[in-house]
Amino acid sequence: MNKPLIVYTSRTGHARTLAEKLGKLLTAPVHEVIDRINRKGFFRFLFSGFQAVTKKATPIDEAMIDLSQHDSIIIVVPVWASNMVPPMRTWLQKHRSELANKPIAILATCKGSDSEPYIKTIQAEFPQVTYCKFCYESETDIEGLLKRFVAELQK
Ligand SMILES: Cc1cc2nc3c(=O)[nH]c(=O)nc-3n(C[C@H](O)[C@H](O)[C@H](O)COP(=O)(O)O)c2cc1C
Repeated sequence: MNKPLIVYTSRTGHARTLAEKLGKLLTAPVHEVIDRINRKGFFRFLFSGFQAVTKKATPIDEAMIDLSQHDSIIIVVPVWASNMVPPMRTWLQKHRSELANKPIAILATCKGSDSEPYIKTIQAEFPQVTYCKFCYESETDIEGLLKRFVAELQK
């Protein structure tokens, strides 16, 4: 079985840290989805939440990637308004055909939302998502959480 591909996008660095630590733990490649929208400032913050709720897919940059080399995908994202973050929606839509039949797991970083509504929303939009776990910013044992996440994926 091939290594999973870890795909992340991050505005303030939390998802990036999680993705990089997970990559080291699994010795798996880590791929960044770059958000091309300027999201600095209060009004752009509000607009970003609006884009998430209204399920927008916004412009991205990324390096070339061969998804055929990976049997499964782990997505690491921030939670935005209890929805998929728009640049990752773009990535999922852009690679829809290459992702067909590959299981997708999500590790989502957030400040304090409940995970249940997010998981329902995500699985309604992306039925390929087989597993989703939250990592709150207040988490003090990130290494332990990542090990539990990996163990849960292997069940
Ligand atoms: C537009 C926007 C909406 C957000 N909505 C939520 C939310 O619904 N629930 C929550 O717990 N955190 C929310 N957050 C906080 C982020 O999920 C949290 O800070 C995350 O750890 C940031 O990850 P990053 O540093 O990789 O960007 C939101 C942040 C932004 C920018």
